Amino acid sequence: MKYYNDQPGIYCMNRDWRFRETDISDLPASRRHDDVYDYSKAAGAKGPAEISYDDSEWETAELPHDWVVQKEFTPDAMLNHGYKMRGNGWYRKKFRLGEEDMGKQILLEFEGLSSKASIYINGLLCKRQFYGYNSFSVDISDFVCFYPAVNQLAVKIEADAWEGWWYEGAGIYRNVWLIKKSPVHIDYQGVYVKPKEQNDGTWKLEIETTIENSFGTGAGFRLETALYQSGKKVLDLPKKRADINGFDHVLCRQETVFEDVKKWSTEDPSLYEICVKCISLSETGEEVSEEDGLDYLKVSFGFRTIRLDAETGFWLNGENIKLKGFCCHQDHAGVGVAVPYAVKEFRISQLKKLGANAYRCAHNPDPEILQICDKLGMMVMEENRTFASHPEVLEEVRGIVRNARNHPSVILYSIFNEEPLQGTHRGMRMAERIRNTIHKMDHTRPVLGSFNGGYLEDEGAVHALDAVGINYNPMRYDEFHEKYPNIPLIASETASAFMVRGEYRTDEEHNTIGSYDDFCAPWGNTHRDAWKWINERKFVAGTFVWTGFDYRGEPTPFEWPSVGTFFGTYDSCGFPKEACELYKVMWKKEPGIHMITDWNSSRKVGELQKVIVAANCQEIELSVNDRVLERRKTTAYAQDEFYVPFEKGTLKAVGFIEGTEAASHCLAVPGEIYRLKAACSKEALMNDGLDSVIVNVIAVDAEGMEVPDADNLVHFDVKGGAKVIGVGNGNPNSHEPDYAAQRKLFHGRAQAILRNSGSDNAVVEVWTDGIGRTVVEIPVHQVQRIPYMESVSDVVTVGWSMYYRLLDEMPDVDMEINENDRNSFEPIEFHGRPQNVFTGKLLKYGIYYNQIKISRDGKRRFLYFPDVRGQVFVWLNGIKAAERTDKTTGELKIMIPNGEDTLYKFFVIIRNENTESNEAGICAPVMLVDCLGE
Ligand code: GAL
Repeated sequence: MKYYNDQPGIYCMNRDWRFRETDISDLPASRRHDDVYDYSKAAGAKGPAEISYDDSEWETAELPHDWVVQKEFTPDAMLNHGYKMRGNGWYRKKFRLGEEDMGKQILLEFEGLSSKASIYINGLLCKRQFYGYNSFSVDISDFVCFYPAVNQLAVKIEADAWEGWWYEGAGIYRNVWLIKKSPVHIDYQGVYVKPKEQNDGTWKLEIETTIENSFGTGAGFRLETALYQSGKKVLDLPKKRADINGFDHVLCRQETVFEDVKKWSTEDPSLYEICVKCISLSETGEEVSEEDGLDYLKVSFGFRTIRLDAETGFWLNGENIKLKGFCCHQDHAGVGVAVPYAVKEFRISQLKKLGANAYRCAHNPDPEILQICDKLGMMVMEENRTFASHPEVLEEVRGIVRNARNHPSVILYSIFNEEPLQGTHRGMRMAERIRNTIHKMDHTRPVLGSFNGGYLEDEGAVHALDAVGINYNPMRYDEFHEKYPNIPLIASETASAFMVRGEYRTDEEHNTIGSYDDFCAPWGNTHRDAWKWINERKFVAGTFVWTGFDYRGEPTPFEWPSVGTFFGTYDSCGFPKEACELYKVMWKKEPGIHMITDWNSSRKVGELQKVIVAANCQEIELSVNDRVLERRKTTAYAQDEFYVPFEKGTLKAVGFIEGTEAASHCLAVPGEIYRLKAACSKEALMNDGLDSVIVNVIAVDAEGMEVPDADNLVHFDVKGGAKVIGVGNGNPNSHEPDYAAQRKLFHGRAQAILRNSGSDNAVVEVWTDGIGRTVVEIPVHQVQRIPYMESVSDVVTVGWSMYYRLLDEMPDVDMEINENDRNSFEPIEFHGRPQNVFTGKLLKYGIYYNQIKISRDGKRRFLYFPDVRGQVFVWLNGIKAAERTDKTTGELKIMIPNGEDTLYKFFVIIRNENTESNEAGICAPVMLVDCLGE
């Protein structure tokens, strides 16, 4: 969604892909000389990388796409990756660029792929990407063809290897964009906004713009930059005029002083926008037309200061605040790692509800998250995945920084998590180089690593970093601080406590853990203990709780049939577990009280029921059916535990501050399921084909009280402008399909994720057997749609060659061509222009040759020449297939006969008869088409 504003020349590439999970390589099927020779040349990649590869039998796919999430769970698959089989696959998309695009820079942007990718355009390998979490661009300007030719984009994905020990999905799981830019333009990620507070309270605003000239001719340009607040222009920066050589980059600096600044904070995340326009100038200094010479980029940013101090912790805008953060992996129920923007937004909002102010992208960068955190007011620890300092990784690190450094939300860069080399001299050297790489580009944010040891070593990464993150082991915070009183410390990973939403019993036989916050990993702490260690130490800048949400893979504490973890504060759908209530009272300022207990009709009257009363009040009072049971002073951190004999009726807890009632919580015993309540995560959808909404279903009784035991199968019937892209219920032991239109309730709740698919309002009917339907209408708002790069189905043939000279006589079509001969026949491509070879050569014969594989029973039955000039004679497998002698220009089509053969050898002989224009030859790309409207 990052281009969801009116930026020019941006096309969404998410639709109409062909996909197949397959191991086919890009090597030729045979190893004869001609195959090996051809493969070794530019654009010679074979298999699905090849332009003419037949993908008509492949499934169609829409991005973001995670092909693994749609699979079944199987105990044979890797447990870390959530018991779903990964593998390798290919994606293909064919698109056309207009003649007017010639001379522009054509860029592809991939926001993320899992895991390794090779990207081919028209058979040419133009990028290998081994880091699945980073966004990157590929300049394809030199490799694309223009109308009438088509371009074949092919992406080979290797997902049988992995980068992490959690669920990583597989496929092109984030958005893809095609960007067209004028020759002189703002470089990819080329604007860096640097707001700096000065001693007198004003802000110096420095803007660095990198201009790129992606073609050979030098040019002039002018930069016009303006500052916007809430869509209104507040300031023009002084214009800048400069020159740029061909194939060069120029860094331009513009600056201004700004007085009246509204600061970005977590409570009030005020954002500003910089719009940089690059206007190309002709040799005489005039503006080149808008179509050819204007590029602009809008970048949002904020004014804020940060400081990390070894004694006092973290400071935002001069205020000392504790980082109250969650670590999160990126996957969500139903959709795996192909998580729509709106779902990410929902997840961050859920965390904010608990009083959280920080988010750790564990253990990888996530560019879209930064935009959301800017908007919602959440500070981010952005994390690098691969700990290494060789040039390839350093380039990835630079990409992470370029992506992150304009975002006010980003406060920390983490360069590793729990690396065995962290406490070694090698680790120190690596960390030093990475930190230096980051600081060269952005010296305003501290760089740290998350350590699980090695931080007390005298040689180790500790000595190369600005701060240290300690994962778990809170009893070592003091020891560290004593040894290194000048190194700031953050509890980069804490808790790893377990609970399952809606469960109050712990039953290890059935992979279930109750919600009383009394179980954690052997290396972890309960939520309450973890917070106590941090909150009692000023020098610990804050916490990042493992984790905000349950995630797929790395099932802990149990393995199969558990397929996900129990660590989440929320479950995998974002439904709150009781842990949420603990954070609300521990982290939020406003008075709160909540009882953690199973006050349920299945309890026997008189049976002792455990109740934890979590509160941030001074005193609490517990009563049942209006009878006061006990009033006591609250116990900080540990909270208060009661055992109450169960009786039907209402259990009530009241919290007092200074003797006055400040908060209360009531629990009544729910009845039978009566209806389904459906609630949407947002009020409306945009009709852009990307927007999403979450539909949460809750079983309620006749009084509207939630029925936590309901486990009915719920169906989602969706009509109008939306479709279901995944379902979930938060049960980490469930093996129900993620990609379906129904899901069982788990402890009374289930969820469907919908994506916009049209302009009509969406109507969602939710039902389960024997219970009336609940209907929700979701309005679809008409917005300026992002232009999509449409796919085309034309198949353009490649591999044509032409005899090296023209002949005076009609050639012998039985001529033997030695398959190793790459010189008698020259490779040739057709681009919509007559061929020079015939100029002035009237009545001469030219010979074109090709051999094309065509599936006999497929629908492609015509070889179509849109523009062929001169007299034409076509031989197909030694038999004359067509002859045109009555006219000398225009199209020609030849039917491919059905037969045993799949390899068709074509000789096309052309005699230059065109006395008027003296032009001849095959002038436009030759295509294979299904039918020609006959
Ligand atoms: C940490 C690790 C996390 C996760 C967690 C589970 O050691 O950094 O990725 O595995 O343990 O408790």
